[in-house]
Amino acid sequence: MSDPITPFVPVERGISEHRPAHAAMRAAGPLVRVEAPAGGPAWIVTEEDLARQVLSDPRFVKDPGMAPADWDPRVSGLERPVAEQMSVTTLDGDAHAALRKVHAPMFSARGVSRYYDRMVAIARALLADLAASVPAGTAVDLTTDFTIRFPLAVVGDVLGVPAEHVDLAISACRDLFNPDPAAFAAALAAFAQLADAALEAGDGVAAELRDRLPADTGHDDLRYLILVIIFSGQPTMEAFLGFLVANLLEHGAAGSDRKALDEFVQEVLQRQPPAPFTLWRFTAVEVELAGVTLPPGTPVMVDLFGITVDPDRPAGGPDLMFGAGPHYCIGAQLALFQMRALTEVLVNDYPHARLAVPFADLRQIDGGGTLGGRLTALPVVLHGEDRRPTAS
Ligand code: HEM
Repeated sequence: MSDPITPFVPVERGISEHRPAHAAMRAAGPLVRVEAPAGGPAWIVTEEDLARQVLSDPRFVKDPGMAPADWDPRVSGLERPVAEQMSVTTLDGDAHAALRKVHAPMFSARGVSRYYDRMVAIARALLADLAASVPAGTAVDLTTDFTIRFPLAVVGDVLGVPAEHVDLAISACRDLFNPDPAAFAAALAAFAQLADAALEAGDGVAAELRDRLPADTGHDDLRYLILVIIFSGQPTMEAFLGFLVANLLEHGAAGSDRKALDEFVQEVLQRQPPAPFTLWRFTAVEVELAGVTLPPGTPVMVDLFGITVDPDRPAGGPDLMFGAGPHYCIGAQLALFQMRALTEVLVNDYPHARLAVPFADLRQIDGGGTLGGRLTALPVVLHGEDRRPTAS
């Protein structure tokens, strides 16, 4: 009998190596049975057409109220059931569509582009502080602080959270799944404080969200929706920015204009897609899928990473790394604009920046649970020497 596939066991590996489970799952078929991190059987979809079907089929629901009763939320990463807490990530059907409609204008490309110049200013200020913190020619590790600070500073700015609260946002995100109940409670209190600060400032997306929601929306619900915006993009952005910068400094983009930089970001997203899996879905009723009968309450997720990097996948098709169907990533434009801002600042302000170690020596480790890989360190010399040949 072959070894069981263990997609959720963290594996340390080189920067360009894929977690071996993705290829093993692909080889095992379109729908693969695995052991869930929170225990018990779960199913992973590995084939693109089946994935798109599942992601838009209303019989697969997000409501954690449908999860196996013995799943510990601290291990599964699940939010509360919809009956206790509504959220854009957990609602289904018409209620979900209505809440997405409320968010839509602020998170469209046009909505997010209003903040682009400020994203550039944030990247510039954070990198200048980092560069000034060490003597010229000395390396700084961008994964120590920068890769979490930049995306949280950006999302905070977009929401209207005053800039001095970025440290609070960092500690709140780091402790949201802390098994210590006191640290978890402190994280929730910090998120509430961030939401209230943004609503009080009144000049960002948090206040727009409040004004667009039905008037009877409770304050706790509003705070929770803001928490979701702050937290949802954090693990993927933090991990991906490491890969983006490492690839930029090693391979370089084809040019420094916006088009070349956007294409470069897309290339790295395809090569090292940051969300390995979708979030969990559960069958609301008995479902027949790829020849398997799934009883109600069966956990199912899609292997976005495995599908995206499938060597047999035709190039140029619509991408899947931000998901598909009604739960497609709300923050995709916000993510792409901040990746553009960061690459633009690095290329234009730090033309001689370089990796302080060979690219092939960079290592990654999975974040645990269903999270993907992140670099263990990213030592960079921001003010490297000019290595261009001099005219003689
Ligand atoms: C590289 C960056 C990012 C990647 C790869 C990513 C990926 C994804 C994926 C795959 C989903 C769909 C999950 C599913 O169907 O179960 C999703 C949903 C979501 N993302 Fe992102 N995301 C990123 C950044 C962000 C950012 C910056 C935000 C901040 C607003 C964000 C907010 C959300 C929200 C709120 C959802 C839930 C949407 C819903 O359920 O209707 N994401 N993301």
